[in-house]
Amino acid sequence: MRATDDSPPLRYGNTARILHWVSAIMILSTIPIGAIMLREGLERSTQDLLFILHKNGGVIIFALVLARLVWRLISPPPPLPATLPDWQHPAAKLGHLGLYGMLLVMSVSGYVRVRAGGFPVEMLDAIGAPTLVPHSEALADFAQSVHAYGRFVLVALIIVHVGAAVAHMVRRDGVMRRIWPPVGG
Ligand code: HEM
Ligand code: HEM
Repeated sequence: MRATDDSPPLRYGNTARILHWVSAIMILSTIPIGAIMLREGLERSTQDLLFILHKNGGVIIFALVLARLVWRLISPPPPLPATLPDWQHPAAKLGHLGLYGMLLVMSVSGYVRVRAGGFPVEMLDAIGAPTLVPHSEALADFAQSVHAYGRFVLVALIIVHVGAAVAHMVRRDGVMRRIWPPVGG
């Protein structure tokens, strides 16, 4: 059927789609870098490089999440296809809320773990950003635990999210077309 001026938009706008895919690439590289950089036996120079990539990548992810949330208020997502079963509407909302929430938990706990431990975040130091938490080993240890356990929750949510996306692709029910391609289409 041809879309008319009255039809609801079928896709997220270009900005939301670009932000989704840039964030996805950043997150899907930051997680393995975080796991690899803690392996024993790594050369010091390699480990330092991975730490720098991970910490600063995490700060960029935080900025991307904020940008997405603000943009979502300015340009709300299009309604889901009416053909989807009712239960999928709240399930999608809950899943997306969980992903945004866990991305914030991971970036904030990573930041607190590093800053409270007295370590640099190169990108923020370069622009002269002040340290927002006190130096405290207890706080750094707590944030480290949150970061370490939080990754399981985030990875589980990502697996469910990508699994759901693949199921929609197989059914060709129009959901994947809402976010793909990253621009135009
Ligand atoms: C959404 C963003 C982030 C994700 C998904 C993420 C994910 C991870 C993962 C999977 C690990 C490995 C944990 C382990 O094996 O125990 C890790 C470790 C770590 N991350 Fe992140 N991280 C994020 C943001 C950050 C940020 C912003 C910083 C600091 C500015 C940071 C600093 C660290 C540090 C220092 C470790 C090593 C923790 C330790 O000492 O055991 N992360 N992160
Ligand atoms: C780290 C990886 C990813 C994260 C954190 C993520 C997160 C999100 C979030 C938060 C939304 C909701 C956007 C909003 O309404 O504000 C979304 C939408 C979507 N994502 Fe992802 N995503 C990731 C990877 C992927 C991948 C790899 C696929 C496909 C294979 C995918 C497919 C979709 C689809 C189809 C939608 C639209 C859902 C709808 O219309 O309700 N995502 N994603």
